[in-house]
Amino acid sequence: MRIFAAAAAVLAVTIASADVRADPIVIKFSHVVAENTPKGQMANKFKELVESRMGDKVKVDVFPNSQLFGDNKVLEAMLLGDVQIAAPSLSKFKKYTKKLQVFDLPFLFTDIEAVDRFQNSPKGQELLRSMEDKGLLGLGYLHNGMKQMSARRPLKTPKDAKGLKFRIQTSDVLAAQFKAVKAIPVKKPFSEVFTLLQTKAIDGQENTWSNIYSKKFFEVQAHITESNHGVIDYLIVTSSEFWTDLPADVRGGVEKAMAEAIAHGNQVALDKAVEDRQKIIDSGRSKVIELTPEQRQKWVDSMKPVWGKFQKEIGKDLIDAALAANETS
Ligand code: SIN
Repeated sequence: MRIFAAAAAVLAVTIASADVRADPIVIKFSHVVAENTPKGQMANKFKELVESRMGDKVKVDVFPNSQLFGDNKVLEAMLLGDVQIAAPSLSKFKKYTKKLQVFDLPFLFTDIEAVDRFQNSPKGQELLRSMEDKGLLGLGYLHNGMKQMSARRPLKTPKDAKGLKFRIQTSDVLAAQFKAVKAIPVKKPFSEVFTLLQTKAIDGQENTWSNIYSKKFFEVQAHITESNHGVIDYLIVTSSEFWTDLPADVRGGVEKAMAEAIAHGNQVALDKAVEDRQKIIDSGRSKVIELTPEQRQKWVDSMKPVWGKFQKEIGKDLIDAALAANETS
């Protein structure tokens, strides 16, 4: 009888401790691109690293292709606690800070290495905290790559863009950039771009090689101009409240996995900028136009005056720091 009572007590304690064992923290990571892109690969790597190291404490659910939220809704959802990590393009934060508009200035950065140097500079790192007053915290940057322009007709000089409708992200700088060449900018979510191009509701768009390839824009755009006129990179963002509420050991582990996943994504970005460009050329569906130095200069001359319009909002200090990052020394 005494043995039975002791066994019952042990069983009760075991059940009670099983009951109090905490459920894993769930991190929902929402993004809008395909899985075979720098951001898609980074998100999957992050899940793999976190769950292999801390699977008993943290679970990561990745939602690609705008399955959970488009970029126009994701930051509101984050502040409501419905998603914990996202990586919108740097062009999609204007409601929360004007400073990140620096990344949209046309022909500011000479290449992705210059963008990388700026992001890692003290000014670039300061920008990670530029939305803290709104409850958002940048955990790091991720590359996609330099932007190219595509259209139904060949774009060699700015006058070729006149009167064409270009889909843009929700950035006033990008709107000004296309108005500067007398084109018509149309702000639309990424998830709608293919259909808008296919139905000819718009005439063109600007994007990176990996987005043009993975979302098949090249199948519905006869011409792509290799303009490298701007950049699409990402801010990995979370809510400050979610971040500070994480237990310190989990926060440290997530931070480490994030840094490693970003390094992986950045390598994918470099590779895809070359490979996806080549796949598009090989497909024969779209003709890639290489600009002569004179043709490129005409785009620079037309679009660069846009900087002046946004200098006050962005801050001259940031523009100067970005320009300094073009120097390799
Ligand atoms: C993305 O790369 O996340 C989307 C960029 C776009 O909206 O064009």
